[in-house]
Amino acid sequence: MESTIEQISKVIESSDNIVFFGGAGLSTESGIPDFRSVDGLYNQQYDYPPEQILSYSFFKANPEVFFRFCREKCLKPILNAKPNPAHLALAKLEQMGKLKAIVTQNIDGLHQAAGSKEVLEIHGTLHSHTCVDCGKKYTLDDVLKTEGIPHCTCGGIIRPDIVMYEEGLDSSLLEKSILYISKADCLIVSGSSLVVQPAASLINYYRGNKLILINKDPLPAEQYANYYIHGKAGEIFEQIMKYVDKN
Ligand code: APR
Repeated sequence: MESTIEQISKVIESSDNIVFFGGAGLSTESGIPDFRSVDGLYNQQYDYPPEQILSYSFFKANPEVFFRFCREKCLKPILNAKPNPAHLALAKLEQMGKLKAIVTQNIDGLHQAAGSKEVLEIHGTLHSHTCVDCGKKYTLDDVLKTEGIPHCTCGGIIRPDIVMYEEGLDSSLLEKSILYISKADCLIVSGSSLVVQPAASLINYYRGNKLILINKDPLPAEQYANYYIHGKAGEIFEQIMKYVDKN
């Protein structure tokens, strides 16, 4: 009896139009906590619920608290984070011409750091920032050189280019994600609780019979997955790549 990993490896080895959809769980092995695991960001103690802090109205009303949270809980964790074997495996599958795109909810830039080229960051990125008044762009390093509320040369506040709660997602990124997923031969979903919309519903556009879920905790979506396995994505992808590289 073939193990699930062997079955998944064979599917990946035989596919040349793979799309990956991922979430914060993909970066926990790089030292960045996810949101809803027991040790995740949303299960720590704050004065306000984190989803409220990371909302646009809170950013406007309480920039001091927003930036204290953002610096401590968003910027600091990504500073020394390195791609883990899951990120590296996905970049390798793209280099092999097997993986066409990564659709990620993550804002940490680790897929690009691993060498992936086609990365659709549907929740934005912490690696670029914008002045809310004049639109001037700033890098992560520019903001790290400041303290408290970062201000532009024009005096405006510099915000991270992430999608805050209450904000819409970039429609062109959503359309591109839907196109990739609807045409995919194989869809791999990993490291996401699949609870935040509209991101989570993107996987419903998949039309094939090679839906693979790789997640630490069980997911309701397993009921209609073709393959699923519980565990750490980095460890599992490492095993998959041993098989794919051998064949
Ligand atoms: N390997 C595989 N799965 C993992 C690992 C790991 N090493 N670590 C955690 N997970 C799984 C958890 O079991 C959980 O199901 O990853 C999932 C992470 O879920 P969330 O913390 O909810 O993260 P995510 O799905 O990305 O959240 C979506 O919510 O707050 C918003 O904008 C934020 O993009 C984020 C969105």
